[in-house]
Amino acid sequence: MVDLSVDLGFLKLKNPVMAASGTFGYGLEFQPLYNLNLLGGLVVKGLYFKPREGNPPPRLAESPCGLINSIGLQGIGVEAFCREILPWLADLTTAVIANVCGEEEGEYARVAEYLSRHPGLAALELNISCPNVREGGKCPAQDPEATYRTVKRVRQASSLPLITKLSPNVTDITAVALAAQEAGSQAVSLVNTFLALAIDLESRKPKLGNVLGGLSGPAIKPLAMRMVFEVARKVKIPVIGLGGIFNYQDALEFMVAGASAVQVGTANFVNPQACPEIIKGIEDWAESQGIKRLSEIVGSLKF
Ligand code: FUM
Repeated sequence: MVDLSVDLGFLKLKNPVMAASGTFGYGLEFQPLYNLNLLGGLVVKGLYFKPREGNPPPRLAESPCGLINSIGLQGIGVEAFCREILPWLADLTTAVIANVCGEEEGEYARVAEYLSRHPGLAALELNISCPNVREGGKCPAQDPEATYRTVKRVRQASSLPLITKLSPNVTDITAVALAAQEAGSQAVSLVNTFLALAIDLESRKPKLGNVLGGLSGPAIKPLAMRMVFEVARKVKIPVIGLGGIFNYQDALEFMVAGASAVQVGTANFVNPQACPEIIKGIEDWAESQGIKRLSEIVGSLKF
């Protein structure tokens, strides 16, 4: 038997595989497909205080080995989430994490504070990295100072463990990761999507209603993994890796690069069974290698 568990310090996961925010609804949507308790964790869709309609359609465009989205963080808002969804999620034995959004620092704090008053959440993931909700794809995670301020504000508003989700659309992601750590984030997750443009040649119009979107999927995997490698060597807090993880080998490579745990995103759209298949693949691989504790491989890149 391989010990797949992951100790993030503030949270113990039964295995390193989590479903990524924005690709797994509020969890309920996947319940008919498999037992959600198989997962290490699940991160629900981003939550603002109020419901939000999101961006004008079209919101999705495919590209080779990738998906460009501009959903605009459509969602039901934190009150409806706590009233209608969280009581059901609270019965799961998997770690349930809420993705916290805000138009400004105060809203991030208000959402976090509201969520903390309701039982059932293992942690908050602070979404300061969505490229689809501010002019030109801007987001707080592009600036270490804005990151510091937002994390600090949320840290003061909630006692739940805090994971900060970082943007790849920066020159030096390690500076932002260090700012998040200094402000009290207990982990970082990276990366969110790469700011992208898809064009319809005949009409010479953007394929997305919001013009720009965020690229995810296998196309970004080597870039995301490089950033995980860089950040894991700089920070003291755990790194959660994501970006184009489609199979167990991808997940294990992120761990070797330095990720303590991983999130599976776009793969859920292509294969709704992706997460349980990846968990099984990791277990079989570790067994075949004679590995007793999977956490041994974290950051084990030989170079
Ligand atoms: O547009 C979106 O809802 C994407 C969100 C994100 O990348 O965090």
